[in-house]
Parts: sequence; C-alpha cells; structure tokens
Amino acid sequence: RAKLVKYNTIDDAVYLLKKSRNIVVLTGAGISTSLGIPDFRSKETGLYSQLERLGLGINDPQEVFNIDIFRDDPTIFYSVAKDILPDTKGLYSPTHAFIAELQNMDKLLTNYSQNIDNIEANAGIKPEKLVQCHGSFATATCQKCGHKVQGDEIFADIKAGNIPRCTKCISTLRANGSMKRKRSYNKSTGKRSRRRSSDDDDDDGQYDIPTAGVMKPDITFFGEELPDEFSQRLVKHDRDIVDLVVVIGTSLKVAPVSEVVPYLPPHIPQIYISRTPVSHINFDIDLLGDCDVIVAELCRRAGWDLKHDMVDPN
Ligand code: OAD
Ligand code: ZN
Repeated sequence: RAKLVKYNTIDDAVYLLKKSRNIVVLTGAGISTSLGIPDFRSKETGLYSQLERLGLGINDPQEVFNIDIFRDDPTIFYSVAKDILPDTKGLYSPTHAFIAELQNMDKLLTNYSQNIDNIEANAGIKPEKLVQCHGSFATATCQKCGHKVQGDEIFADIKAGNIPRCTKCISTLRANGSMKRKRSYNKSTGKRSRRRSSDDDDDDGQYDIPTAGVMKPDITFFGEELPDEFSQRLVKHDRDIVDLVVVIGTSLKVAPVSEVVPYLPPHIPQIYISRTPVSHINFDIDLLGDCDVIVAELCRRAGWDLKHDMVDPN
C-alpha cells in the first residue's frame, strides 16, 4: 500500500515525533556504545571481532551465544560472560534519556530493546514500557531442572570465570546421597583421603558435581525462543495503535526482532537512526550518524529539553 505522504528529512522526523502519541522505539547495542559498551558487529570495536581475535576455538563468534554449543560446553560462554555482565554504575546515554523523555511526554508506546545491559532502567524507562527482547541477566535458570534464581546469585561465579551450578540440583543430589565422592591424594601425607566432592575444588576451580545442572542467565541465545512478552505485546497491544516507529542503533541482523518493522502496518512512518545504513529494510527517514548527536538535534529542533550531558567514556 502506497503511503499518502512521503517523509524524508530530519524536519519530517521532528514533525512526526511531535505529533505522534504511540511511538514504538526499537533499540540495539548502538545506543550504549557511547558508554564504552561494545556493540556486536562493528568492525574492530564490536564484541564479535574482539572474540574473533581471542580465537576461542569456535568457527563463528556468535556461537558464544548459541544454545546448542552452550549445552555442549558452557565454558565458552562463561569465558566471556564476565565481560558482558552489566555493571551498576547507573550511567545512561543521551539516547536512553531521549527514550525516557518520550515516555515522560506520554508518547512512548513500547521500547523494544535487544540490549541486555539493563541501562534503560538507569534512564528511568519504566518496566511496563520496556520489552527486553533478548532477556537479561536479571534471572538465571538451571538447564537441567528449570530452577530459577535471581541473576545476582550467580554473579560471583560469573565474575570469577566459574560455571555456576544449580543449588537445587546440588541439594537434591545431597538428599539422595548420590553426591559423587572422590578419592584424592594428599601430597604431604601421601595418604589417600575420602572427601565429599562438594568441598573439593578441582583443577578448573569448579565444584566436582558434574551431574548438577548448569545455570544460564536468562539472556536469549541463538536457538532459543524470545520471551513471550515480545510477540504478545507486539501483536495484541502495539500493532493496532502504533503511530510511529523509531529504530536506533541496531543492524537489524537478528530475527525475529528484525521482522518487527516489516510486520507493522505499512502506513506507519518509520525512522532509522544509526551509524551504518541497512539495505534489507526500507525506512522512510534515515538519520545516519552518532545516535546521541542525532537525538540531541531532534530535541533541539522540537524545542524539547533533553536532560542529559554528553558522556565521555574516556
Ligand atoms: P549490532 O552490533 O549488530 O548493531 C549495532 C548498530 O549500531 C550498528 O549498525 C552500528 O553501526 C550502530 N552503532 C554503534 N554505535 C553507534 C552510535 N554511537 N550511534 C549510532 N549508531 C551506532 O547490534 P544489535 O543490532 O543490537 O543478540 O545486535 C542484535 C543482537 O545480535 C544482539 O541483541 C545480540 C547479538 O547477537 C544475542 O546475543 C542473542
Ligand atoms: Zn537444577
């Protein structure tokens, strides 16, 4: 269906932002790079090229987030997990402030974020306005028994580079008396001793409890379903009332989030803000460059006060 009005320019974007009341903002890693958090696919600086340089014994750095590989060998993920754990410094970028500003003006329908850095909360974006499409570190789940815990319960293990194990599996094993006992050799006395393996740090610093489930943060891996909330909200809540889509700082390479824009009714105007243009989706308005600079200019032209200082990550 042809659009009645053709929008192209930054002033068209300002016009749309001012008149719209139900804006869907779809974000990716590019909105956090000004805080020093790498995105995934930028050459040189992106996490994937960093991982490629590390050579983790995998073909494709995306395999770090592949669920089959994780089930096979969680050490690959846990060797990088400490570097992607969100820190709690409370920082946020001008782009996060912009989204919060839309919320405060009652214009934000939903922020669909692919980010797992939880920075939306720092900027004051309300949980009811936010869908964390790729989950978050807020909770973690045992891959064996499904036991869920608060994410911070496994942060110490993640930071230490250990593989977190399920406390419920461990206590079940203990209760059943099936905890593996291990003979270990005491170097000083030369005697063999019998120790409960739970007290026994083996070579890789892990508990010797190979049958207890591995905990995985509830971030969405390749091969896993997105949280139900994603499609529920998009289909049942947003699709019929959205009046503007603003996509910021994402390469739109990962489905199903990449399908959000084509899924929405074609007459809904769409704006794309990023350093790198995309060719597989046609936006009405492309605003190419640093997103913090672009949103600041949009606000200036709209006469809105963007309450944020530019952040210098250095
Ligand atoms: P990408 O790294 O694929 O894309 C980030 C985009 O933001 C790129 O187009 C950059 O050019 C752009 N960008 C970076 N910094 C910017 C800035 N300061 N201003 C404007 N643009 C900037 O990251 P995502 O699209 O978020 O999923 O990646 C999507 C998913 O792929 C992630 O959620 C993650 C990853 O694999 C999982 O791990 C499941
Ligand atoms: Zn378990």
